[in-house]
Order: sequence, then C-alpha cells, then structure tokens
Amino acid sequence: MPDDTAPHDATALPDDTVLPDDPAWWRAAVFYQVYVRSFADSDDDGVGDLAGLSARLDHLAWLGVDALWLSPVMPSPNADWGYDVADYCAVLPEYGDMDDLDAVIAAAGRAGMRVLLDLVPNHTSDHHQWFVEARSSVDSDRRHWYVWADPAPDGSPPNNWVGSFGGPAWTFDAASGQYYLHNFLPEQPDLNWWNDGVRHAFDDIVRFWWDRGVAGFRIDVCNMMIKDAELRDNPPATEDDPFIMQMFGQRPIYNGNRPEAHDILRRWRTISGEYSPPRVLLGETNVDILENLAAYYGTGHDELHMGFNFPFIEAPFEAAALADVVARTEALLPAAAWPVWTGSNHDVSRLATRWCGGDPAKVRLALLMLLTLRGTPVLYQGDEIGLTDRAFEKEELLDPVGLRFWPHYPGRDPERTPMPWDAGPNAGFTAAGVTPWLPLAQAPMNVADQRADPGSVLHFVRDAIALRRASPDLVAGDYRPAPVADGLWVFRRGATRVALNMGAAAQDLTLGATPQAVALSTHRSHEGPVDDPVLRLDAWEGVVITTRG
Ligand code: NOJ
Repeated sequence: MPDDTAPHDATALPDDTVLPDDPAWWRAAVFYQVYVRSFADSDDDGVGDLAGLSARLDHLAWLGVDALWLSPVMPSPNADWGYDVADYCAVLPEYGDMDDLDAVIAAAGRAGMRVLLDLVPNHTSDHHQWFVEARSSVDSDRRHWYVWADPAPDGSPPNNWVGSFGGPAWTFDAASGQYYLHNFLPEQPDLNWWNDGVRHAFDDIVRFWWDRGVAGFRIDVCNMMIKDAELRDNPPATEDDPFIMQMFGQRPIYNGNRPEAHDILRRWRTISGEYSPPRVLLGETNVDILENLAAYYGTGHDELHMGFNFPFIEAPFEAAALADVVARTEALLPAAAWPVWTGSNHDVSRLATRWCGGDPAKVRLALLMLLTLRGTPVLYQGDEIGLTDRAFEKEELLDPVGLRFWPHYPGRDPERTPMPWDAGPNAGFTAAGVTPWLPLAQAPMNVADQRADPGSVLHFVRDAIALRRASPDLVAGDYRPAPVADGLWVFRRGATRVALNMGAAAQDLTLGATPQAVALSTHRSHEGPVDDPVLRLDAWEGVVITTRG
C-alpha cells in the first residue's frame, strides 16, 4: 500500500507497471481530465506545464485513475485558451516541448496510465499557417480549406448563422471581399471538412500523435465539423426548444449536426483500428437530444468509442431526472456501445458547485454515482477533492465568453482555477510570490490536507475507484434500475446493488434475507456487514451493497 501521507514525489512512481493490453481497456478505466494550464507549474511563471504534470503524476497514480485527457497542449495564441490551435504537431512553449510531452506519456505509462490529447478539428487559430495562406488570396491553394462566402446583396453576412459564443458566425475579410465562417470566435476560423486536403491533413495529424504513443483523442465539438454545403439559413427557435436555442433565436441544424460528420468519425475509427490497442475516440458530442448522441456511436463499432453525455451533465441533481437520462441512454445506445459519465469539465460549472452547492455529502454522492454507473467515468481535476467554482469579478475574467456575456454568465473561468495542492503559498500550484494565471478558488481545500485525512472526499474517491476496479460487477455488470421513489435511486450492477438517496430525508431500503454488506458508503462509518433486513440511508447518503457469502 502506498503511504497515504507521503509528500508528492515523482520518483516514487513504479517503473515496471504494464498497461493492460485489452483492446477495450477504456471500458474498465477511470478517466481524469487534466486542464494543463491550471494543474501544476514547474517553472514559476504562473502557468501550469507538462513538467509540472509529470511531477504530480504520483497523485493520479495514488488515486487510481487509468487514463488522462489533457486539454489542448498545442501551440496557440490563446484567444480561446488552447482551443485555437496554430500548429497541430507541436507543443505550446509555455507548457514545454515535445520531450516534456513524451516524458509525461512515458511516466504515466510506467504508473499504469494512458494519455489522450485534445484534438480540435472544427477550426484552427487565425494564426495557423493554413489560414494565413487561405486569407492571403482567393487563389491560394488553401483558400477552400476554410469556409468562405460572398456577402448577401446588402453586404450583410451570407446567412443567418449565429456563433456558439454569440454574434454572427461570419467575419468580413475586406481584402478579398468575402466572409469567412467561425462557429466560435473570429480568431477560430472553421475548417471546410468537405475539402479532401483537410481530411488528408488530419489523417496525418492523428497518426503523428498515435505513432508517438498517444492513446486517443477527446475530439472537440465533433458534431459540428461539417456544415450544410448550401449554407442554408437556420430555422427560428420555438418556445419548445432548449433555452440556449431560444437565446440564440435559431435551431443550429445547418451550421452543425450534419449527417456527413459521421463519415469523418468512421474514417478516424478505421485509422484507430490500425493500432494496438486501438486508439480511443472520445467525442465532445454537445447535443441536446440523446438520440443524436447515440448516432455518434454509429453501429457501436465504427464511430466514437465514447461520446460525452450533455443531457446528463445538464440534468438537475435529482434522482428522477438523472435516472431518466441514464435509462434513456442505456436504451438508445447501440448494444455494443459504452456510455461515459461526467459531472464537470472546463466548460461547465464544477459538479461540487452546480449539483451540490458545495455540500461535501452531496459531492460524495455525485462522485459515487459517476463511479458506479455502467460506463466510463471521467473526473475533472479537482473533482476528487470536491473543489468548487471560484466567484469572479469582471476585472478578473480571462475567458472571452465570460467577458462577452457578463453579468448574465461569468463564463468558464470559475471552473478553471489552479489546482490547490497544499496549504502553502499559491496552494502549491506555483511558487510563492508568483501571480497564477487565474486566481485560486476561495474554497479552503487542498490535496495534501485531504490526503492526510482518511475521512476526506479524496480518500472516498480513491476507495470508490479501488472498489470499482476490484468488482467485475461495477466494471461490466448490467445496469438494472428499480423505480425511483422519493428521491431514492437504486440500481443493480450484476449482483451488486447501489443506492443513492438524493434527498434531505432518511430512507429505508429493504435488503431481504441474504446476508449483505455495505462495501462503501458516503457516510464512511456505515460500512460493514448488515444483519438487519432493512438498511437506513441518511440524507444524501449513497451506498454500494454486496452480498456476503
Ligand atoms: C469546446 C471546448 O471544450 C471549449 O472550451 C471551446 O471553447 C470550444 N469547444 C471551441 O473550441
């Protein structure tokens, strides 16, 4: 057993761990999203980096995660904090160089963890050489790698499309007299995925990284890559549409979510299959409708391995609502497909705030839910200590989305603050006296304190991951729910039972005559054999129940 109170020490990583060679390793895995800029700073410039990540891998190995998804590490002018890529086959100098990335992959591998990168194929940075060339002349060979169109007769944009960050999705280029398309910032011109040159360039890009040992990609807005070839206007939103569509005034059916996006995913899945083990495609499938999410799995064998479930992320923290999304997901996904469950990421308020209002009991319950559903859990850095969002003032914001929508929406800085490692200056994220790129969260919590406390959220998460790893039921057992009543969500995974009391009142759960045991409880003192046929769950308590044999 590792020493629970040891200070972090990268040299403590084992050097002989063998990664599982099962081609479907990712189904049994727990994934962890590293937002590199905010993870750990090794060179005291206030910005997280790859050497900082290497030095903290022991925390992730101790926690028991199997795979890391690194938010973009490629060169970028950071108009959208890395999601505006200027070179797909290099490393952002602030984060280090290719050797540093190779070192992360190698050290993670020795510690039993695989590394996925973030691929941003919908758009590049306007600083990318491809766009510089495309913009230089209408006759450039690269011109049609992007989406250009003539103005409407009155000089306005070619159609009514609104960008995901608000405002028209088109910017006028005076030099050529045409508009270019950007579904996000003007600094993020959309690639034209109808163009074969773009497709071949990305074949080379994915191979470049996969050849280096990268285990797969989280694929940014993979549902948007292809746009309507005729650039038709989006239809108006109706009052039955989700809030976000009503806010934008239109249904985004022509500037994304086109059927041809599936061709690109099939193309990459074929390339993935050339590798051993196959490289994993984890899509950012930001769709409102579960039927559309299911479609991105294709047959279950030929598109994404996993697609993020936004209806789940956006559901309220209520048993009936969450159980409903899970049941519908289970029913809609192709038989061979595998769900993925997450509650936080760098774009949404953290689960500890959004779902749990900072209440540690609810945080444990939410994490137990993620770690016991059938599918791959993806934790976001800080989830393991129940980190909450930071409240920002407008002057502190760096996210262009927050700056645009303030005060109605603070943007995404609240969930992107630096990882608090210890109680020292700058929480151990960067050196004393250095200003971190984003201020630290106000919540007084950190990894070291929780590691020293066996009753902490951190130890609970570690124990839940260990229990999951040791339980074939929790890894692969069917999901069989009982009807939700009074906020009590009970489901079986194989012969193992999970009960989540998502309510402020205690609940009684009838266990029956077979001897049972509470293998894990969010209320740790309740763990152990149960001889009573009825188990009382406290408010906001979750348990994993196994049979005693
Ligand atoms: C989704 C990413 O997660 C988000 O951070 C980014 O702003 C947009 N895609 C555009 O790339």
